[in-house]
Amino acid sequence: MVSYKELGLVNSREIFKKAFEGKYAIPAFNFNNMEQMQAIIQACVEESSPVILQVSSGARKYANQTLLRYMAQGAVEYAKELGKNIPIVLHLDHGSDFELCKSCIDMGFSSVMIDGSHHPYEKNVEITRQVVEYAHKYDVTVEGELGVLAGIEDDVVAEHHTYTQPEEVEDFVTKTSVDSLAISIGTSHGANKFKPDQCTRDENGVLVPPPLRFDILEGVEKMIPGFPIVLHGASSVPQKYVEIINKYGGALKDAIGIPEAQLRRAAESAVCKINIDSDGRLAMTAAIRETFAQHPDWFDPRQYLGPAREWLKELYKHKVVNVLGSAGKA
Ligand code: G3H
Ligand code: 13P
Ligand code: ZN
Repeated sequence: MVSYKELGLVNSREIFKKAFEGKYAIPAFNFNNMEQMQAIIQACVEESSPVILQVSSGARKYANQTLLRYMAQGAVEYAKELGKNIPIVLHLDHGSDFELCKSCIDMGFSSVMIDGSHHPYEKNVEITRQVVEYAHKYDVTVEGELGVLAGIEDDVVAEHHTYTQPEEVEDFVTKTSVDSLAISIGTSHGANKFKPDQCTRDENGVLVPPPLRFDILEGVEKMIPGFPIVLHGASSVPQKYVEIINKYGGALKDAIGIPEAQLRRAAESAVCKINIDSDGRLAMTAAIRETFAQHPDWFDPRQYLGPAREWLKELYKHKVVNVLGSAGKA
C-alpha cells in the first residue's frame, strides 16, 4: 500500500472547490507515454495550472500501471525542477469495477473514477458507494457518472446519448457520497463527435455542431448546488491538425469536436474538470506525419517525438489559458 501523499500528489477536493469558486475548470489530460507526460507538466508549470494526469484502462494495459504510477511520481519532481510545485492529481479514468479502483488506490492514485453509467441505476449506486467507502479511508476522491455519452467508452459502444436526468443526481450523490459527478449533456469520446448531417454551416461554410444541453447542466446545478461536475469527451478536434494529418497521408473523415466557446461557458459553471484526450492524439499525429513527410531520411525517434511533444505542449497551454481558465491558479 502506497499513499499518494507520500508521492507528493493531491486529491481533487481542494482544487475543485477553488475551481468552482473561481469559475474555471481543471484540465484532465490522458497520458500513456513519456512525451505526453512531459508536455502536460511543462505546459502546466509554465502557465501555473493545477492538473489531473489521467490513466485509462487502455493506458494501463499499454504502458503498465506500475510504470505510469512512477511516471506520475516523477512528474511531481519534474514540476519542482521546472520551478513550480503545481497541484498534480493522479486519476484513474473510467474505472470499470471495484477491484480496478482498489488496485489503483493501493498503488498511489489520488483519485479514481468508477464508471457505473452503463449499469441500471441501483447497480450504479451500489458499485459507486462501494468504491467511495474504500477510497475515503485513504482520502482518495471519487468521480461517478450518471447518463451515457454516445460513442465509444473503452469497450462499450453507445449509439445515442442518454442524457443525465437532473432529478436523479441528488439521490445519487447522497446515496454514494461521491466527490464529483460526470454528466452527459451532448459531448462524446473520440474525434467524430457529430455526423455532418447533425450540423449546420456558418457564413464561412464551417460546420457548426448542435449546442451542448446547458439546460440539463443548469437543472443539475439546481439539484446539487456547489457540487463539482465533470465533462468527458470535451476535445474540440482542431481542424488545423485534421488538415495536416490528411495532407500528409492520413484519412480522417468527418472529424468534428466541441466548439471551444461552449467549453469556456461550461468551465465558468459548476463544471470543475474537463477531460481532453483526442486533441492531444491529433496534435501528436499531425506533428509526426508532417515531420516524416518533410524529413524522409530521419529515423531517430527523438526527431519526430520531439516536435510531437512541442505541439502537445502548445495545445495544452492554449487549453489552460484560453479554454479552461486554469492558468495562474496553481
Ligand atoms: O475515455 C477515453 C479516453 O480517451 C481514453 O482512451 O481507453 O483509448 O486510452 P483509451
Ligand atoms: P475526448 O475523446 O473528447 O478527448 O474525451 C476524453 C475523455 O473523456 C477521457 O475520459
Ligand atoms: Zn471519458
